[in-house]
Amino acid sequence: MEELPAAEADGAGPAGPVDQAGLAGPTDQVGPVGLADRTGQAGDLADTVIATRALTKRYRGGQLAVDGLDLTVPAGSVFGFLGPNGSGKTTTIRMLMGLIEPTAGTARVLGQPMPRAARAVLPHVGALIEGPALYGFLSGRDNLIRYDAADPTADPRTRRTRVATALDRVGLTAAGGKKAKAYSLGMKQRLGLAAALLQPRRLLVLDEPTNGLDPQGMREIRALIRELASDGTTVFLSSHLLDEIEQVCTHAAVMAQGRLITQGAVADLAAGTRGRLVVTTPDTGDAARVLKEQGAGDVVITDDRVTAEQPPDRDLADVNAALVTAGVRVRGFGVERASLEDAFVALTGEGFDVAG
Ligand SMILES: Nc1ncnc2c1ncn2[C@@H]1O[C@H](COP(=O)(O)OP(=O)(O)OP(=O)(O)O)[C@@H](O)[C@H]1O
Ligand SMILES: [Mg+2]
Repeated sequence: MEELPAAEADGAGPAGPVDQAGLAGPTDQVGPVGLADRTGQAGDLADTVIATRALTKRYRGGQLAVDGLDLTVPAGSVFGFLGPNGSGKTTTIRMLMGLIEPTAGTARVLGQPMPRAARAVLPHVGALIEGPALYGFLSGRDNLIRYDAADPTADPRTRRTRVATALDRVGLTAAGGKKAKAYSLGMKQRLGLAAALLQPRRLLVLDEPTNGLDPQGMREIRALIRELASDGTTVFLSSHLLDEIEQVCTHAAVMAQGRLITQGAVADLAAGTRGRLVVTTPDTGDAARVLKEQGAGDVVITDDRVTAEQPPDRDLADVNAALVTAGVRVRGFGVERASLEDAFVALTGEGFDVAG
């Protein structure tokens, strides 16, 4: 029983079916028939899988962890929940899963209010929440068997097959017989993901799913997420890795200090930011001077490249002409596509801890 999740600091106990492994999942009495009836009511909200309104969490110590969050996660999206450490991602996810009560505001998951409808909603949601807790004395495979056995809707006759398939999907087949306490962080993370994948789900909520994985493991998990999404599962994942979000997500929300900075389609988020002007030239000093004269900000010289923010209200053709008129020998002149990182920096005015 080691490695059980830390007790809730503000004392709000789990409001829904959360099993002892700390993973939100089906453990209660709601049968399949009742489920179908209840979730049928969510039909009118079929396009939005997660919707929060002014969702707020202030922990008992006074920490305002999530501040008036309005989140809209479209069905079928791979939705990246992006923010630096401490920006409120896990707190939001715990509220969405009914693990903690919001201080104010509302959250709807699969069209139903959380935490009130947790019993009806959670069987349709696979979740991996920060640091999956496992029974260390059991093998990875036996942890999954135990987890699956806690699901009243799971057919015991197909349990072993289900577990084997889940282990295979996360690349743990060979390590399935090893005790979970001997797992590396990345292996534990994979096992937590396997638990979320035991049943087909309408929604997967993954808190930093690639945390602790090596680059190859990260690629595998990203490929798996794309595969799940192509099967129609909505995937909501948190990350503090911008490039990860760019690679795998169709939509994203950006958090900073508990507040939502922006959300939308990833392509639109980056498109809202102007890419940097890039001049390739042997005459970098002169080029930098001319660009500044032309009103370009943040001029940076690296080797034979000068990059800068595009000057506002200036036609780029005129900027190029000014360089040439000043005798700058221009080898290349163009605008780099803005990345999500550019967008983040432009939106928050801050840098972002990008790992790797
Ligand atoms: N149980 C708790 N009691 C009091 N404060 C907490 C608790 N959990 C989190 N916090 C605080 O709330 C804020 C948001 O934390 P949260 O864990 O939601 O951030 P996060 O975005 O998931 O960060 P990370 O990227 O490090 O996982 C932080 O300032 C954190 O210290
Ligand atoms: Mg977190």
